[in-house]
Order: sequence, then structure tokens, then C-alpha cells
Amino acid sequence: MTYTEAYQLLEQKGQLHVLRFFDSLNETEREHLLSQIAGIDWRIIEALSHKDEPSAKGTIEPLDAIEVSEIAEKETSFRELGLAALRAGKVGLVLLAGGQGTRLGFDKPKGMLNVGITKDLYLFEMLIRNLQKNSGAAGVPVPLYIMTSDKNHDDTVAFFKAHDFFGYPKDSVSFFIQEMVPCTDFEGKLLMESPSSLCLSPNGNGGWYTSMYNCGILEDVRNRKLEWINVFSVDNVLQQIADPVFIGATLDSGCVSGAKVVRKASPNESVGVLCLEDGRPSIVEYYEMTEEMANLRKPNGDLTYGFGVTLNYLFRVDVLETMLGCNMPLHIAVKKIPHIDETGQFVSPTTPNGYKFETLALDMVRLSKNCIPYEVVREKEFAPIKNASGADSLESARELLRKNGVEL
Ligand code: UTP
Repeated sequence: MTYTEAYQLLEQKGQLHVLRFFDSLNETEREHLLSQIAGIDWRIIEALSHKDEPSAKGTIEPLDAIEVSEIAEKETSFRELGLAALRAGKVGLVLLAGGQGTRLGFDKPKGMLNVGITKDLYLFEMLIRNLQKNSGAAGVPVPLYIMTSDKNHDDTVAFFKAHDFFGYPKDSVSFFIQEMVPCTDFEGKLLMESPSSLCLSPNGNGGWYTSMYNCGILEDVRNRKLEWINVFSVDNVLQQIADPVFIGATLDSGCVSGAKVVRKASPNESVGVLCLEDGRPSIVEYYEMTEEMANLRKPNGDLTYGFGVTLNYLFRVDVLETMLGCNMPLHIAVKKIPHIDETGQFVSPTTPNGYKFETLALDMVRLSKNCIPYEVVREKEFAPIKNASGADSLESARELLRKNGVEL
């Protein structure tokens, strides 16, 4: 993109301030800024224009989960089915590790967090350990694709290398980088990180399949003829990965996707609930639920909308392929965003000052025609580390790890 093209585009979008320092930049910096401008996803401005509209929900109905008791009855056959799929090389894994973990306030990639006390035990290490239990039972390594972002890629790769991939076969592990989107202030003006660079942040956890496509790694998925992908978050230290029983149950259900869910601890717990919206699977966020809906009960006393998602899903690859052409909705998050002001001074805000834009994995569930909610026992499989203290923190996760017999 030339300077003139950039000028015209930014003028039309009301964002000419982005070129404020252009004259003072050297040739390399100019090229850098022009290429960033050329890559802006202008849907962010469109998203901002709808930000105050309540999200239009369709008709919401409950979606029955396959519950722990039923899973226990059929465990042997589900396990065999899942192990056969793993052995046949039909399943791949995507670890979502591109987030910035701002709530935790840890300045390295979240997976590098040490959950150990008397010894080192890193989050990445625990995830690999959990995976090895199942890949070991199947007797084959399961291909693992790790999504990072520009902000944490080098550190993540270096960490895996320094720890020899925690014993997982390295030729079964690949890394790919997700896309970035610009951040804006509350007026919708693009924020600048430096005179030659926009403030960019990772585009959320819903764009991973498109990112795999954009960086060419999808070729590997296609060459290996993978049929299913188990995608999961970096911060649930207890989750089972490539879980044969989950895979078997999803295959058995005939659904094109599956979601590991936990029984809500209370009607108002802050988790998204898997249900049906106009007949399609959908996740209703806790803040979108009415009191009545949150407290509704089945004849047996269980909550009607009683299962929260844990960010561990199985998707059929042919269905993921159809999502490639779809523009995932951009969700807006209010955040503290360090930037430079109009004089070029660096500002590190202490209160939120702008918006970040993110696609969400839960919207991929909505794009699947059906999804089986698969119940896992919370104390055994759900220990997310999101916050610096209190609920879903390092402390609460350590307690659950101890309860599960993990030596810290
Ligand atoms: P969260 O929604 O908890 O976001 O991510 P986060 O960025 O890690 O943390 P906060 O909100 O800033 O505190 C859930 C999962 O999605 C991944 C995260 O790494 C985590 O595994 N994720 C999130 C990405 O891979 N990319 C993103 O852009 C955002």
C-alpha cells in the first residue's frame, strides 16, 4: 500500500491520526505502518456501531447432556470407539495458547506458569502429561497444533524446546500464529503503540481454524486426513485431552461436535450454558440469562439450563472446513490498553481506556448443526486458572490438583 492509498483510506474511515508521525519515520518504519494499515480488519468499526444493541437471541430451549451416570454405563464401548479413532489417526488437537491472560497478570505466556510448589510443574507440562495418558493408552502420538500470537510465539516455542517438549514426540507438535486486530479508544479511534505501529491484540479464540488455513498448517491436517479436532484452552490444568471416552461418546451420538460441560455450581454461576437457539446448538452467556431461565428446574429438580461449557470441544473437520468462509462475529471487550498519546508520549492506563475485539470459540458451536454436551466431573476435570486470586486462580487450581493426587 502506498502512502496516498493509506491516506485516502484513513481519511474515509476518519482515522487520519494514524499517519500523524509518518514524516518522522524511517523507511522501514513507514513500510511497517503501511502494511499494518493495509491489513486492518475494518469490521471492528462495524462491530462498534452495534455495540449498544442487545444481542438478538432466537428461541432458546434446553439441550440435554449425556450425563456422568450414562457415560459410566457405556464407558467401555465409548472408550473402545474413541481409542480406535485415535489409533486410526483420525483425531488432531489444537491448544489455544494465544491469549494474553490479562486477568492473571502473568507477563509470560500463560502456559509457562509454574503451578508447582516444591518442584517445577508448568501449565504446559501438565497439559502434555494429561495428553500423554490418553495418547499412551492409544499407543500413538496425536498431532498437536499449538496456537500462539505475535505477542507470545517466540517465548512459547523456546519454552517447549528448552523442556524437550515435556517428552511428547516433537515431530507431532507444530505451532501457528493467530491473527491480530487493532484496538480502539472509546470513541472508536485506532490506538497507536508507537509512532510506527498500531496497538494490536490477538483476534480471540474463535478464529483458530481460519488462522490454521491462513498460515498453511491446514495442509498438514488435510494430508494426515484428520477427521476430528479436539480444541482446548491453555488454562484448565485438570482437563483430559484426546479423551477416548469423550471422542467415543461424540462419535456414538452422531453429532458433528461435542462439548465438555460441567454441572453448574449454582443457578447464577458465571458460565456460558450450552442450549439450543432456534434448533441449533448455542451458548448463552450467564449475563444473557433471565433470573427465571437461570432458576428453571426439570421435574427431577436439576437445573434445566444446568451445564456450563469448559472450552474443550470436538469438531468434525468437514464441518470446520465450511466455517472457513464465514466471518466470525467480533465481540467487544473493554480493556486497559497501553498506547501513545497525540504528542507521542507513552501512556500506561490504570483504568480501562478502550476496546479489544475478539472472535469466540462458542460461535463455532453455533455454526455446527448439532453438538452433544458431555458432562465431566467438575472436581476431576475443571480447574481453570483465570484470576490472580479467589475463584479460578492458581490457588484454587492447586487445591484441586492436590485433591486429584498431583504432587506439587
Ligand atoms: P480467555 O478468554 O480466558 O482469555 O481465553 P485470555 O486472553 O487467556 O485471558 P484474559 O481474558 O486476558 O484474562 C480462553 C482460552 O483462549 C485462548 C487463551 O489462551 C485460553 O486458552 N485465547 C484467547 C487465544 O488462544 N487467543 C485469543 O486471542 C484469546
